[in-house]
This record gives sequence, structure tokens and C-alpha cells, in this order.
Amino acid sequence: MSTNHQRIVDSIKLQGYIIIDNALNSDLLDTLFTYLKSINKRSFKQAGIGRENDYQLNPLVRGDEIRWLDRNDNTKDYFQWIEDLRQQFNQQLFLCLFDFETHFSHYPPSTFYKLHYDGFKLSSNRIVSTTLYLNPDWQQQDGGELCLYNSDNQLLEKISPIYGRMVIFLSEEFPHEVLPTKKNRYSLTGWFRINNSDKIIDPPILF
Ligand code: OGA
Ligand code: MN
Repeated sequence: MSTNHQRIVDSIKLQGYIIIDNALNSDLLDTLFTYLKSINKRSFKQAGIGRENDYQLNPLVRGDEIRWLDRNDNTKDYFQWIEDLRQQFNQQLFLCLFDFETHFSHYPPSTFYKLHYDGFKLSSNRIVSTTLYLNPDWQQQDGGELCLYNSDNQLLEKISPIYGRMVIFLSEEFPHEVLPTKKNRYSLTGWFRINNSDKIIDPPILF
């Protein structure tokens, strides 16, 4: 197992989150970045809030546009890295993670994402959030920091979205926000999920 995976598991166990630079090896990172640059910008869609019937677009809450990722030659090594991490989470922390969904995000200048949780106990299946930043030459004055808070809304970390940095945290424990960015800001954000599909119903009682 990679030392980075063990570092991630240990930190999640200890404090519920980790900020890790160079989490991926540089070939894998550059492959993802090259792939991002090759994607037609028109295939990014305005992100919404809420799910299904509650779904709405609200640029006062979030201004990013997203493009979901599927498995292909450019992404397969990343999905393998994620799969290895999923197995370690399950073996060591008994998280019962079932699958992973992920999209590229693009925040155009002056956009943001207001304070929110990624997951809610009982009503959501997102358990662990991951974000990988893909912004070469990011400067402090470019803004766009991810602010991570504890459940009492005290600021824990203010994180610049620099190239190769990854932030991983428990989705139900940490409210967070993206501060307004001054430049185009790119990331790859994903969620490990448990399978709490409401389509699985109790078997009928037979008499
Ligand atoms: C999200 C999110 C954080 C970031 O997409 O839910 O909080 O830093 N992203 O991009
Ligand atoms: Mn979020």
C-alpha cells in the first residue's frame, strides 16, 4: 500500500480531514491536467444545488460549472488510486464505502460556493469528500480558498487551490465554502458513497 494512502487513512481517523500536497505521482497528476485542458469548455454545465425534486440553479449559492468524469484511458489510473484508497478506508475504518462519483469543477472569476455540507446523516450517501486542485502558478492574491470549518463553525483551515494539492474530509462533519476567486479555478471533486438506496425495501412477510 502507498504511504500516502496510509497517511490519508491515519489523518481521517485522527482528525477527520487531511490536506496533502503531491498526493498523486506527477505523471498521474499531469495526465489529469492534460485531460482537463483537452475537454471542450462547452461540455461544462452550470452546477446546481439540492437533489432531484429540490434541484435548482442558484448562482448566489454556487457559481461553478461541472463536468462529470467517466472511466477512460486518461482517468483509469486515477480511478485505480481511488479504488485502493476506498479499500483501505473500508478495511481500516469500516466505512462501508460502496462507490465513488467525481467531476471537474470550473469556477470562473468572481464566483464562489457558499457555506455548505456535502452530506447529511440519514438523507445522503456521501461519506468522504475529495478535492484535487489543478491550478498551476496559483498565487495567494488569486483568492478562491477553500475554508474548512468544524461543526461549531470555527475556521479550521484556509486552503489555496494549488496544483497537486488534495483535500479529503468526512462529508457530514465539516461545513466548508469556496471564497470568491479572481482567476479561473479548476478542481477535481469527488465523493465516496455508501449504498443507502431507498430502492432496497424490506422483503415481504410471507404467511
Ligand atoms: C464542492 C466543494 C470545494 C472546492 O464541490 O462541494 O465544496 O474547493 N468544492 O472546490
Ligand atoms: Mn462541498
